[in-house]
Amino acid sequence: MSTTILAIESSCDDTAAAIVQDGKVLSNVVATQDIHRLYGGVVPEVASRAHQINIVPVVEAAIQKAGIQKADIQAVGFTRGPGLIGSLIVGVSFAKAFAQALNLPIIEVNHLDAHVLAHFAEDPKPNFPFLCLTVSGGHTQILVVRDYLEMEILGQTIDDAAGEAFDKTGKMLGLDYPAGPIIDRLAKEGKPVFKFPEPKIPGLDFSFSGLKTSIMYFLKKQVAENPNFIAENLSDICASVQDRIVSILINKLLKAAGQTGIKEVALAGGVSANSGLRNALQKTAEAQGWKAYIPKFEYCTDNAAMIGITAYYKYLQQDFATLDIAPVARY
Ligand code: KG4
Ligand code: ZN
Repeated sequence: MSTTILAIESSCDDTAAAIVQDGKVLSNVVATQDIHRLYGGVVPEVASRAHQINIVPVVEAAIQKAGIQKADIQAVGFTRGPGLIGSLIVGVSFAKAFAQALNLPIIEVNHLDAHVLAHFAEDPKPNFPFLCLTVSGGHTQILVVRDYLEMEILGQTIDDAAGEAFDKTGKMLGLDYPAGPIIDRLAKEGKPVFKFPEPKIPGLDFSFSGLKTSIMYFLKKQVAENPNFIAENLSDICASVQDRIVSILINKLLKAAGQTGIKEVALAGGVSANSGLRNALQKTAEAQGWKAYIPKFEYCTDNAAMIGITAYYKYLQQDFATLDIAPVARY
């Protein structure tokens, strides 16, 4: 008999639901909350209210698209954290209520584990052990993944995430939120002529707040000399910032691969959509003899399919949560 899981993701500003059967994705529905663009970033209170509005229609759509009935569902997986607490509460409460109504077990999922396991949504799948660089608006980590549910963080950001570095730079440049995709597009028309310093962080940890400060001082100085500096050099500034963020990420991956001897390297999280990062990973992989894995965009950004895949492997271990479980902002 097959195992069918309903998965819920509501950790930030995307309300998502998916149906995963025996580890395969039958449906993957996301309602993105565009309203945050108006504020130049995610407003937690607004996000929680939007989740409350979206959650039922998104779940209904996931069930319908999968072509299953509610009675076919055997367990409910949900993101417990990390994330915005008000957003998480909506998803966790919904998952508990749905499971109670149908008398189903619930499975808690760590959002960051799920970003890694998004690689198992489709072929080609990485072989264990592999390194995974998870880069998104909220997270930047290098992990060694030894098995589906056995992973170890080798390094992570000590301040901002890589996506935040893109988004905060965009704000300084007067770009819309989220600025990552806009910087990516503009960078294609420019050259990395401005050199921003690479932070000197020991080991495999990352830091992006120093870069943010150096970009801020650089722009202040240039704009004082030429008020049109940003408009006249926008694509070169974007290319330069992207170039530095990408080199910080790739250099740490090289270090991690050197330390572990692992040659299977995967990218995860929304920033893995970045064309500069994708190209740099492909090039580095060719030079180093690595096998590189980058999932489809819908599995890079926040989604519930990755929650369902993780929940499926926990289901196989009968790793169920009790109904008094609560969300956690920090896992
Ligand atoms: O994984 P995700 O959808 O949500 C979080 O968990 O944060 O990642 C969103 C982040 C944002 O910071 C956004 O600017 C960034 O991913 N992003 C990009 C690109 N597409 C999305 N950053 C750089 N280049 C892109 N093409
Ligand atoms: Zn995420």
